[in-house]
Amino acid sequence: MTTQAEPDPTAELPAFPQERSARCPFDPPAAYRDWRQTAGLRKARLWDGSQVWMVTRYEDIRTALRDPRVSADVRHPGFPRVAPGSRIPGPEDEVGFARTDDPRHAEHRRMLTRFFTVKSTESMRQDIEDVVSGNLDRMTAHGRSADLVAEFALPVPSEVIARLLDVPYEDHVFFQENARKLFDLTLSAAEVRAASQALAAYLLQHLERKEREPGDDLLSRLVTERIATGELTRRQAVPMAMALLVAGHETTATMIALGTLDLLRHPDQLALVRDTDDPRVVAGAVEEILRHLTIADNVIVRVAGEDLTIGGQLVRAGEGLVFSLPSGNRDEAFLGPDADALDVRRPATGHLAFGYGPHQCLGQNLARVELQIALPALLRRLPTLRLAIPFEDVAFRRDAALYGLNELPVTW
Ligand code: HEM
Repeated sequence: MTTQAEPDPTAELPAFPQERSARCPFDPPAAYRDWRQTAGLRKARLWDGSQVWMVTRYEDIRTALRDPRVSADVRHPGFPRVAPGSRIPGPEDEVGFARTDDPRHAEHRRMLTRFFTVKSTESMRQDIEDVVSGNLDRMTAHGRSADLVAEFALPVPSEVIARLLDVPYEDHVFFQENARKLFDLTLSAAEVRAASQALAAYLLQHLERKEREPGDDLLSRLVTERIATGELTRRQAVPMAMALLVAGHETTATMIALGTLDLLRHPDQLALVRDTDDPRVVAGAVEEILRHLTIADNVIVRVAGEDLTIGGQLVRAGEGLVFSLPSGNRDEAFLGPDADALDVRRPATGHLAFGYGPHQCLGQNLARVELQIALPALLRRLPTLRLAIPFEDVAFRRDAALYGLNELPVTW
């Protein structure tokens, strides 16, 4: 007798992540538009057959991300594994504050906030200008074409965060390669773990160095003001340092490269950014580019700590949630009917590119200053900047938690 295979009840569910259209690579996956218009939330199927609720509407995202019943604690048994490499940590792992809930999250985050206030990051403006012009000098010294990612977008924020933490910029290939692996959705748990352990060992070594010879940098101050006083253990400081080093360069680098490409595709908008000498116009444009691109694509993952209702949908305790920030930022209910357009003059205030709620980006003020300096400086230094390959041949990074580009060949 032959037995009929049981039909897979999840087979009909849409997959997560959804693919973006090749024709509109700046736009979120097309399905999200439909999902925003349907009542309740949509369920999606992950690579391992498990299910998550997709939250795609602007208002639902804001409401749920500030709800204390929505947990960011990766040790929760229901926490979704959105890729093979997202491992549920064991008891031996020190979990960083970004992956826990308050009060521990708030306690550790508070130790870092003063380094990222508007005042602190504004005081870095001159240093950042120097880093930007130094990199433009190097990129333009050997010809009239370059890979903008390798020669400008990646070096600028890497050098800035290396200075802030006082880790040697000469190690940039090491920390950039390992950081990228942490966002790669195609790697195995063992590969992601190896990258994370390599970064942890590296940062531990630097924390120990700062215990012996403290300086005035952020990590030295964590050592002298928090570890030495017993408020923080060295093991707890490692994932904190890692969050800063990793999130501190990969995200901004992606925004510089993709932001440049977005402007090259919209020459009228590019001219507005290049030709103004009003810092408020530049600041507004940066917010709109952040909104339009919303690179934190597949990373906002949570689990329901208790039963709750989101957008009219009952979500049971222990069920997984994925928040699509790109979708929320294109929601017509947030911005009106032309939410898909890039319009650097519109007030994009209230966008979700840096997340929302207690985990909203700690480094956002720094990222803003870096973008406000890097984008106009590049466009002014190279007024004839253009793509060196057809737009159709640009390789977008589609299989990563952060949307972006691995390279961007340009000429001028
Ligand atoms: C344009 C650049 C950036 C973008 C688009 C971005 C985006 C984000 C987003 C969406 C989150 C929320 C994650 C969540 O809710 O789970 C976040 C958190 C975070 N970001 Fe950024 N980020 C950027 C730059 C930076 C920089 C420059 C730093 C540090 C120097 C940084 C450090 C962090 C940290 C530590 C967190 C975790 C905060 C917490 O859990 O309390 N980010 N970022």
